[in-house]
Amino acid sequence: MTEKAYQILFVCLGNICRSPAAEGVMHSMVEQAGLSSMIHIDSAGTEGWHRGKLPDARMREAAKARGYTLQSRARQVRLADLETFDLILAMDADNLRNLRALDPEGLHTKKIQAFCDFCTDHDEKEVPDPYYGGSEGFEKVLDLLEDGCANVLRQIAKA
Ligand code: 4NP
Repeated sequence: MTEKAYQILFVCLGNICRSPAAEGVMHSMVEQAGLSSMIHIDSAGTEGWHRGKLPDARMREAAKARGYTLQSRARQVRLADLETFDLILAMDADNLRNLRALDPEGLHTKKIQAFCDFCTDHDEKEVPDPYYGGSEGFEKVLDLLEDGCANVLRQIAKA
């Protein structure tokens, strides 16, 4: 790993459910590994509908039950993020498509990836949007995030 902090951005649609939860899970894992000064984490939404809001209360409650405190504020992804971040992980195929649309020349293709490609214990290709569903959806989100984030950390730590 280099001297400069490695920067990871998690991206979903609204930045109030999946990506802030990913930020919280990853933050906790990085802290436990003693790598907080080496790995910086943020999250954003492809849409800015919920700008400035805390994560959805259902997501915060489900995360809290697993020991994660979610306290980020929603923001929309911006063009500069493509430059700033080293790894940009999209929660679903729509998010991935919308991120790639911000990079029509493909300058950042390698750093924009599907989060589920890092999952090792799950076959899902996307982190399903839990917003309009029940509590089991939020648990599923956390199951996938814990799996993928652990592997993201392993991959970065050995790079
Ligand atoms: P997220 O979930 O993309 O995981 O933050 C959603 C949040 C809000 C909406 C949709 C998905 N919404 O339609 O407002």
